[in-house]
Amino acid sequence: MALKIDDINKEISLVKKQLRNNSVDYKRAFDEMSVSIKQEIDEVCRLRDSGQPVIPEVEFQTLRDNGFNDQQKALLQKRGCLIIRNTFPSDLASDWNIQIGEYIKSVGYYENPDKGLDNYFSSLQEGKPQIFSVYWSKAQVAARQHENMAVLRSHLNRLWRYRNNGESIFDPDRECCYADRTRRREPGDNSLGLKPHIDGGSVERWLDKSGYGSVYRHLLAGDWQKYEPFDAAYRTETNQIESPAVSNMFRTFQGWTALSGQGPGDGTLQLIPCSRVLGWMILRALQDDVPNDELCGAQPGRALPCTSDWHQMVLEGLCTIPKMMPGDSIWWHGDLVHAVEDEHNGSEYSNVIYIGAAPYCDKNAAFLAGQAECFLSGASSPDFAAENYELDFSGRAGMDDLTELGRKQMGLQDW
Ligand SMILES: [Fe+2]
Repeated sequence: MALKIDDINKEISLVKKQLRNNSVDYKRAFDEMSVSIKQEIDEVCRLRDSGQPVIPEVEFQTLRDNGFNDQQKALLQKRGCLIIRNTFPSDLASDWNIQIGEYIKSVGYYENPDKGLDNYFSSLQEGKPQIFSVYWSKAQVAARQHENMAVLRSHLNRLWRYRNNGESIFDPDRECCYADRTRRREPGDNSLGLKPHIDGGSVERWLDKSGYGSVYRHLLAGDWQKYEPFDAAYRTETNQIESPAVSNMFRTFQGWTALSGQGPGDGTLQLIPCSRVLGWMILRALQDDVPNDELCGAQPGRALPCTSDWHQMVLEGLCTIPKMMPGDSIWWHGDLVHAVEDEHNGSEYSNVIYIGAAPYCDKNAAFLAGQAECFLSGASSPDFAAENYELDFSGRAGMDDLTELGRKQMGLQDW
């Protein structure tokens, strides 16, 4: 549901006042959690600075055959991110790369490149993005509905606790299509950098008392030890302020699949690989040194920033992801702080398709209905600005390009 707030600063002051009336010692909770988070960040820094892997990696074939073992599960839940090597054969991903390049040209993108850039990232961006708002190329549709993706996402969804009080919150084995965009970053580009942020809600995380208030109930009660980022309880019931680029689907993971080789220095992704950091940020904003009507820089309708002004301790743990090859995919919990390197100093394009994991639940099923209409008409995904580059373009994917699994994931056929 959409959250409507007229006077944001007034509402923040009011919510802070109400929380203070709960007689929770937020200073104690924050100080204790800071010690625990600092230990984790120190561990990340130690591994990173000694050249050891920080972000867990698994081969797709191994995952398909054996699933995640308990040790892997514990590490993945702690780090909140992972790389799946060879999710697709590299020649298939390279082929998609060529197809998407041609598709962007054919829809006339370059003749009209600034159609409707949204302002979601305006406070984060270093300049003009190289993210292309096309959703329905045959290559994107093929990648989303590929069987390897279905196998992988059912394992990812199962990292979550998806039952609460005997009821299923989502079905980990049924996936909903979430049509997202594609990135093609030129060598030498220095315009796409994104500062550290979290997607999927900013001020709502404090102001949406029924939805997010329940997700973060343990933190708001001062019981920070009980907070589990992978507990799905109430996650499908959050309410957000409407914005063209805030996801209206519940996603267990955000992610992308590499279409070209890209590594550190190539303008790639950076993560703070610590899933509890957002929980710490929730408590950070409730400390006495933060102005009464502010939440450490959170602004409605924007990404939630993680800044040196308020969050320096955790920013120390920002890690650049290792070299990715065509067909490798990376996944991060929707609450994870991430950024994009300012400059692409490599010699090749660094291209990706954004594909996350959105398991079947009432919230996601409801979203599918509107999205399917956009698929059929060629309109932009309803979760993004209506730039509609593909509306009159005959080369986009249609019903004939959907497999049976693809039709189910699109909500055009019953499971
Ligand atoms: Fe983001």
